[in-house]
Amino acid sequence: MAGPISRRSTNASQPVRGSRIVVAIVIGVLIGCILALLYPHGLFSGDSDSGSEFQNRRFSKSNLQIGSTSCESSERVSMLKADIADLSSTNDELKKQIRELTQKLQAAEQKNGQAEQQVVVVGEPQKAGPFGTVEGIRTNPTVLPDETVNPRLAKILEKVAVKKELIVSLANSNVKAMLEVSVSSIKKAGITNYLVVALDEGIVDFCKENDVAFYMRDPDEGIDSVAKTGGNHAVSGLKFRILREFLQLGYGVLLSDVDIVYIQNPFDHIYRDSDVESMSDGHDNMTAYGYNDVFDEPAMGWARYAHTIRIWVYNSGFFYLRPTVPAIELLDRVADRLSHPPPAWDQAVFNEELFFPSHPGYIGLHASKRTMDRYLFMNSKALFKEVRKDANLKKLKPVIVHINYHPDKLPRMKAVVEFYFNGKQDALDAFPDGSG
Ligand SMILES: *[C@@H]1O[C@H](CO)[C@@H](O)[C@H](O)[C@H]1NC(C)=O
Repeated sequence: MAGPISRRSTNASQPVRGSRIVVAIVIGVLIGCILALLYPHGLFSGDSDSGSEFQNRRFSKSNLQIGSTSCESSERVSMLKADIADLSSTNDELKKQIRELTQKLQAAEQKNGQAEQQVVVVGEPQKAGPFGTVEGIRTNPTVLPDETVNPRLAKILEKVAVKKELIVSLANSNVKAMLEVSVSSIKKAGITNYLVVALDEGIVDFCKENDVAFYMRDPDEGIDSVAKTGGNHAVSGLKFRILREFLQLGYGVLLSDVDIVYIQNPFDHIYRDSDVESMSDGHDNMTAYGYNDVFDEPAMGWARYAHTIRIWVYNSGFFYLRPTVPAIELLDRVADRLSHPPPAWDQAVFNEELFFPSHPGYIGLHASKRTMDRYLFMNSKALFKEVRKDANLKKLKPVIVHINYHPDKLPRMKAVVEFYFNGKQDALDAFPDGSG
């Protein structure tokens, strides 16, 4: 009974109630307007800086987030504009607040502009797409070729390169015998886009006699005095300096030491999807391609196992670089470190620069990388410890063999030629697995 009666009595007093409700709504709206003016970020956001601080953090974090922040701040800009329009048409007392709002609007628009500039650099913002379909950028854009850095080299490369790619070897007369074996294998494999950077006249003569394309730097250029008078470490840094110009000219470069026998054309077997594509010093799939190496500290009891990420180093004597900014940055970083104390092994530096992540006080290189197939781009440990003893693996035809694990390089190179080119099945048998 109480329900219907009270409902009826409510109905009876409706006109009076109705006008009260209208008054309440008007008061509510007014309070709302005043609060909106006093607390433009909302009642519960605390001090007004926290909002912009949060935005700043998001701005600096990543380009994708910058994209979304850009949309949000556009919305915010239009909201603030609407607020200002309302206010200026209604109330003179609020002019001070309008000024404040205008300042905030300008600040927001400035931020918005910055965000748009950064988005332009990386391209249009994109939606992420469904699960399993997203891929980060690994194939970076190539640089705009700049012939002015070395017009003479540019002319040579125009003639030698095939599809803007070539193999580059540095050589001085100390390694002439190995260069000879390497060059003859390159010819037998039918590779034409090969260039020797001659570090002395003996190598120039060798190249002329053997009809090999060569390039010699101008003698007055600083780095050649490094080649002749510098110590070991300075010389090993030389190739990283010299390669820079090749990339600047827009060429993809396969750097090749001279202790390498070519059996097939490597350009038929590289992927070109990464800034750096390198052969590995690894001797099985785990060490070549990476694995979880568990570190055990029994004293820690429950937490005795610490997991680590390991990979055998990339070989800095055989790697392919696409002409991209990260690849050039890698060369610069390695060359710079090798030119300063403490003395360091170029291959260790090459790998540290490539793999160490950013951390406090250090910005890591953002280059994409790929490990070459370890049977196609074979190191001499794989050949002499594993492949030559396995009937099936012996039938494989590698692209190159790099005698990187053995000091008796020349006889092993010649044996590799006998084995793979001349079908001499026992050519590899006489050598020990290691250097004994
Ligand atoms: C090593 O890796 C290659 C390429 O991924 C694969 O085909 C092969 O089966 C792997 N070998 C072993 C022993 O896991």
